[in-house]
Amino acid sequence: MNLLTVKDEPEVFKGKSVLLRVDYNVVKGGKIGDTYRIDRTLPTVEFLLNAGTKRVVIASHSGRPKGRERSLSLKPVVKYLKKKLGEDVGFVEDVLEGDPPEGPRVVLLENLRFWEGEKEDDPEFARALSRFGEEYVNDAFGVSHRRNASVHAIAQYYGKRYAGLLMAEEVDALTNVRDNPERPFYVLFGGAKVEDKIPVLEALVEKADRLLIGGAMAYTFLKVKGHSVGSSIVDEGHLSWAKEFLEKNGDKVVLPKDHVCATAPAKECGKGYEVRDVEGEDIPEGFIGYDIGWETVKSYREELKKAEMVFWNGPLGYYECEDFECGTKLLAIFLSAFKEDGKKVVVGGGDTVAAISRFHIPYEDYHFVSTGGGAALEFLAGESLPGIEIITKKEG
Ligand code: ADP
Ligand code: 3PG
Ligand code: MG
Repeated sequence: MNLLTVKDEPEVFKGKSVLLRVDYNVVKGGKIGDTYRIDRTLPTVEFLLNAGTKRVVIASHSGRPKGRERSLSLKPVVKYLKKKLGEDVGFVEDVLEGDPPEGPRVVLLENLRFWEGEKEDDPEFARALSRFGEEYVNDAFGVSHRRNASVHAIAQYYGKRYAGLLMAEEVDALTNVRDNPERPFYVLFGGAKVEDKIPVLEALVEKADRLLIGGAMAYTFLKVKGHSVGSSIVDEGHLSWAKEFLEKNGDKVVLPKDHVCATAPAKECGKGYEVRDVEGEDIPEGFIGYDIGWETVKSYREELKKAEMVFWNGPLGYYECEDFECGTKLLAIFLSAFKEDGKKVVVGGGDTVAAISRFHIPYEDYHFVSTGGGAALEFLAGESLPGIEIITKKEG
């Protein structure tokens, strides 16, 4: 893709104010959840400070607020940034009226989605934001699939739009997966809804040597193969799609051989059901598949051993509950050892990354863990993302 990055023209930033769009969609209920998305942008902030910028003004959204929702304020991020950067960090509460405080070289703006103009891609809102930076840098890969003012309409106010270091890394790593993966290339898919993953499944199966499926999505495929699935989640609206997909790619697709089931819905983890191991593909009436079984874990490990590159998206079971976390946890641990052997594991997806964090596996143990959920999947599906389209391409 060859984006123009901050590293290509560091002299541009000297003495100037810079508007840096990031994706800090990590604040919930007044607290920071996982800090990964923040941590990954710090090299760009530090790079800009070292390049002699007058001021770095950091802008992000968090959640999907209706107006000014206090619990979604980005204020808690100020303290975290201060600690990580060892710099004073200012805060602007009103992005339409307020000015950056004099003094701090790093300033954070309040949650951009507190203003309707952000979601509406409003050029006037983007103009108001542009007064915070003489230059514009986009490091917000996670939101690049959204046509929002700070990642799209903003483009018209800048001659050049620079990619931050994280943005460049995301685009490089995911382009590698999408366009020229190392072979054998294995794809591991899980998660709940088939529907959300259709474009990316169709794109990646073309490239993959093998596609291993787990999670709730597996039951839709098992059902069209004629297996009984008990009361497991099935995407009834996409059975004919799944049938065609298997007819076309059946030689590549691998489905679970056994299951961990509950005797009743596991809405309240640990309560109101018994856990049963079910051997073989078929799940009896009255049982719900919540995880891949031990035989499946073993056979998926044997398969994955053959890979030079693995792309993993989607938990292999209902990992939020300990009773059904094993499949996801065992394969997450297994894949975390690949890096030592020079094999590339690329991970994408909000819940997949949350699962890794829940198991206390350091993200650095994988070749690349994307900060994008929906954005990563759309990128891999070959779609054009508005936030990436507007970043200036390198010449030549
Ligand atoms: P990602 O955000 O990584 O793309 P998804 O959103 O597709 O992943 O799926 C994650 C959700 O799928 C999790 O909430 C997980 O509990 C759920 N899930 C996975 N397997 C099952 C299953 N067998 N039954 C019910 N839910 C499942
Ligand atoms: C994400 O977390 O996927 C991005 O920050 C985009 O958030 P959104 O789905 O609320 O637009
Ligand atoms: Mg998800």
